Amino acid sequence: PEANKGYSYEDCKATADWLLAQTDVRPTVGIVCGSGLGGLADMLKDQVAFNYKDIPNFPQSTVHGHAGRLVFGTLKGRPCVCMQGRFHLSYIMHITLPMRIFKLLGVETVMLTNAAGGLNQDFKVGDIMIIKDHLNMPGFAGNNPLSGPNDERFGVRFPCMSDAYDRELQQLAMDVGQELGYGDFLREGVYCVLGGPSFETIAECRMLHKLGADAVGMSTVHEVIIARHCGMRVFALSLITNQAVMDYDSEEKANHEEVLQTGRQRAQQLERLVSTMVTRIEHN
Ligand code: 6GU
Repeated sequence: PEANKGYSYEDCKATADWLLAQTDVRPTVGIVCGSGLGGLADMLKDQVAFNYKDIPNFPQSTVHGHAGRLVFGTLKGRPCVCMQGRFHLSYIMHITLPMRIFKLLGVETVMLTNAAGGLNQDFKVGDIMIIKDHLNMPGFAGNNPLSGPNDERFGVRFPCMSDAYDRELQQLAMDVGQELGYGDFLREGVYCVLGGPSFETIAECRMLHKLGADAVGMSTVHEVIIARHCGMRVFALSLITNQAVMDYDSEEKANHEEVLQTGRQRAQQLERLVSTMVTRIEHN
């Protein structure tokens, strides 16, 4: 697609139709795996998987630690589609495509996961944060994934975001988390997205914390905006893979390896939480 113009409805439709012709799975739930959390896709039964490079129109610029596959299958009988591998935020129009393809595949509920740095001082590494709201910092600078012409076939020009994160799904996550015995490390909070790819300075972390952010990362919010624009329900959670550095005496430094390492340690519990939720989501 042309820079800053994004994919047209027809581009998205062509890709969705191509996928629907390759598989009998008719997913109602779409899942996006964050850094180090690709194991979620491996839980799907009767898989039909596509490498991004083999899907028409699909971008391929994935982040290290992301596999780059779109996987169809079932989770305890529920038809799902799972993005194993995200695209770099620097190509903003690339983010819009998978969510819109989800919509055209028939997905009603999107479940997003990410790795994030903890700003809330009560959080510990390994905590799972249910996202209840977001701060879209790139959006403040005019960098919103809905910038540019609006196609009414997807949604309205000015979509509401005060109900972006579905309350029922947040409650379901809390309930399931308690049942599974995850209460000690299950939190809720506000996720702040930055453009990256550099991590935050100490002053930036302090500022974001003062502004009401509990965790900081480089993904998810764009997908949430696109998903809400076209009317899908959204649930999102962050795995706190590291504490954002907040004071000048600290020896700690954010790095991608630590992010992946924590992901591996908590991955199974996170996968179990999401997959159990999927089996309890009601669709009309
Ligand atoms: Cl500390 N910052 C950002 N921007 N993204 C992250 C992170 C921190 N930890 C994991 N992902």
